Amino acid sequence: MSKISRRSFFEISTIGGVALTMPLKASALSPLKEKEKLDKYISTTYSFSHDELVKIVNKYGAPTYVYDWNKIKSNFQEFEKAFKSNYKNVKIHYAYKANTNLNIVKYLSELGANAECISEGEMKIALMCDQSPSDIILTSSSKTKSELEFAVEKGVTINIDSISDLNNLIKVIDEKGKKVNITFRINPDVETKSTHKHISTGHKFTKFGLMYHNGDIYKAVKIALEHPKINFLGLHSHIGSQILEIDPFIKNVQIVSEVSLEIKKRFKYEVKVINLGGGLGIPYRDKENGLSPELLAKEIIKKVNFQFRTFKKKPAIWLEPGRYFVAQSGILLSRVNSVKKTEIKNFINVNTGFNHLARPIMYDAYHRVRVLGKNGKIEKYQVAGNICETGDVLTQDRLLPTPEVGDTIAILDAGAYGFSMASEYNSFYLPAEIAYRNRSTFIIRERENFKDIIRNQKLVSSLSN
Ligand SMILES: Cc1ncc(COP(=O)(O)O)c(C=O)c1O
Repeated sequence: MSKISRRSFFEISTIGGVALTMPLKASALSPLKEKEKLDKYISTTYSFSHDELVKIVNKYGAPTYVYDWNKIKSNFQEFEKAFKSNYKNVKIHYAYKANTNLNIVKYLSELGANAECISEGEMKIALMCDQSPSDIILTSSSKTKSELEFAVEKGVTINIDSISDLNNLIKVIDEKGKKVNITFRINPDVETKSTHKHISTGHKFTKFGLMYHNGDIYKAVKIALEHPKINFLGLHSHIGSQILEIDPFIKNVQIVSEVSLEIKKRFKYEVKVINLGGGLGIPYRDKENGLSPELLAKEIIKKVNFQFRTFKKKPAIWLEPGRYFVAQSGILLSRVNSVKKTEIKNFINVNTGFNHLARPIMYDAYHRVRVLGKNGKIEKYQVAGNICETGDVLTQDRLLPTPEVGDTIAILDAGAYGFSMASEYNSFYLPAEIAYRNRSTFIIRERENFKDIIRNQKLVSSLSN
């Protein structure tokens, strides 16, 4: 978090690679209490200053997503270094679902990320952004025939979720006569207490993965090993998202390795790959502790080395983080439409909502907000969206400086599962997306307009009276 220096009346932000300074009004800093308030409520943790963010809104309008390129790079490199400097054979796949802006995907590809995809659309984006097919994984738990055909034709690695999914794939392979690389997603039955139930994917009540207790995984492995066109690489297990505790990750390695050892025992086959999924969380709250990639890598690798000590060759470790690479780079900028005070609650009504940032309504997610450039009276406010639903509240009661109509509100850490989950609900236009790199800004997605939101609709005359 940024600090306000006692020596100079500047706000200094150092996280995100570049330290920038922004002059604050001297009057705002005189009493110590005022300083604390400013530090707590209006500082940013990015390489942008408040002034720059306001300039971006003035130039491009709002709502707008802005992404700090340096932060994407530093988070990717931190993660990569943590794993690659401690284990020989590591492959990192970026989980496209977190953010599929072509520029972000391409940038991560250039930095060295491979691809984890869920749909034909995501696979096509990966290919468009120069991924080679063998570095793409298709992971959905519910794949269509045409998605399987596309993946087989291109040579994408397919992550199989069930015996039914495997049978569908075999039909496609038999039709096409092509060889395919596969992994099996297992359900490790690992609980992740710290995350929301909708993004806890590794326990036995979820729809994901082949069970190992009931022997399904071994039936599937037998079929795969006997099929001449299937190259069975190994196991995959993704236990969930936004995880800040180390224990579930280690328990996951334990289960993956136990299943791998059982496969070795039953089939005399050593898996070549263990894909441990994504899931590394970020601290969304001020003063919240994150889980560092260093610690995660150290503990996972220690466990892998131990568990696979009897293997002739240790398996490659594949990982597929999404959030960690992009969440902290992104800010959703919006404008204040109105400020409403009642005897029960105060509301800052902004020109965005859960249509553009679904995480608060979907996962009760907390996002820090900043009222940019303000040091007015601090009061409790809900930041409320413009969607016509009671649940469209971006933050619960927060102490914030009172804004004026037209002021800019920044919603932080919105780079992952922000735009990628956005919709056109209530016929609002999808926001613009802006990249920020070394103090320059670039439009990477135009704001939608009316034509865009009706583009595929047809007014059929015989349907009207
Ligand atoms: C299979 C799979 N891999 C990777 C991820 C990425 O997770 P995260 O963004 O939490 O790293 C997800 C997201 O839930 C996923 O479903």
